[in-house]
Amino acid sequence: MKSIDQLDIAGKKLLFRVDYNVPLDGDIITDDNRIRASIPTLRYALDNDAAVIVCAHLGKPKGKVCPELSLAPVARRLGELLGVSVALAPDCIGPEVVSLAAELQGGQVLMLENLRFHAQEQGKTKADRGDFGKQLAELADVYVNDAFGVAHRANASVVDIPEYAPDCCAGFLLKKEWEYLGEALKNPGRPYVAVSGGAKVSSKLGVLNNLLGKVDHIIIGGAMANTFVAAQGHGVGNSLYEKDLMEEAVAIMEKAESIGSKLHLPVDFVYADSIESDSASGMCTASAIPDDAVLLDIGPESIKAFCKVIDSAKTVMWNGPMGFFEKEAFAEGSLALCRAMAAKDDALTIVGGGDTDAVVHRASLEDRFSFISTGGGSFLEFIEGKELPAFTALKECLKK
Ligand code: 3PG
Repeated sequence: MKSIDQLDIAGKKLLFRVDYNVPLDGDIITDDNRIRASIPTLRYALDNDAAVIVCAHLGKPKGKVCPELSLAPVARRLGELLGVSVALAPDCIGPEVVSLAAELQGGQVLMLENLRFHAQEQGKTKADRGDFGKQLAELADVYVNDAFGVAHRANASVVDIPEYAPDCCAGFLLKKEWEYLGEALKNPGRPYVAVSGGAKVSSKLGVLNNLLGKVDHIIIGGAMANTFVAAQGHGVGNSLYEKDLMEEAVAIMEKAESIGSKLHLPVDFVYADSIESDSASGMCTASAIPDDAVLLDIGPESIKAFCKVIDSAKTVMWNGPMGFFEKEAFAEGSLALCRAMAAKDDALTIVGGGDTDAVVHRASLEDRFSFISTGGGSFLEFIEGKELPAFTALKECLKK
């Protein structure tokens, strides 16, 4: 994969696709890790006298201009981190953007407004995306993809710009993720344990299914475990679960059994009487969940069993918290597993996904993990072994 340091970029205009899809509270960025992760590539470009144009998406505005999803707070934070002023264009395409880009000098930074204010960015087909990617490509001499977090999205800024850009390459972040995850998981040390949690089982069942043949153990926690517990025939009280996916959950449990992969589900839980509650009402086993309980964390027996599996691992891949970790009363499951992984000196420990990253930072254990990916969905699809659209598009561009 050609990376930015293999090009002569002095005096050139570079268009960077980055992933700045950061959590916001009003206009306050509550976690700027994704912005920080892009700094080495951008700093390298500025130090080498390139003019830097940055494009990104924020949230899901679905093709409409939403002022609350403006990239203005991100531009401000980026300016602080780079120590230069970052101008925010009023849009990402159009005559005004063209002239702002044309005037940009080496060492200066221009950020384009949210790409997803235009429906074409996420058009399903090439025809739906129209000439959006071409208009973006025409702003610069080189396209640099440094957005691992969107590498799985066939969006115009990911797959169409490389088709029209005169030259293209990967930024340091994209290259690092590609090399690290690719190499590390080619021949993983065994036992290989996947830990999967979070709320949405629908987006993860396919991943679990594909991982089954590759890993030795899958630990399932968080709200996604509820669907499996329900599929085992237990009531889950008033907890979140996906009824329509119970059959698929059964099929996954049967497949695991037949191929000898071990699927580990929680055997006990911490519950409250409502998701709004800040304190636990009690603990229960999987076979005796009260009718009005909302399961919000795994219980002590599950923690013990899961930590034992982690303790035996040579490779651990973790995506998704074990409970509603944002609230103190329901954080112990996620924090205990995090500590168990962090304590391992004899295993490769890889984390992906914003919430999981937040657990690791909350425990201040980020230095104890082998690798923390900036990807969520892209991380899962990559470790499943899928060829991600961003990499296909870059490879095609390099053939030009
Ligand atoms: C992410 O936050 O995982 C990426 O930025 C992709 O965002 P999306 O799921 O809204 O496409």
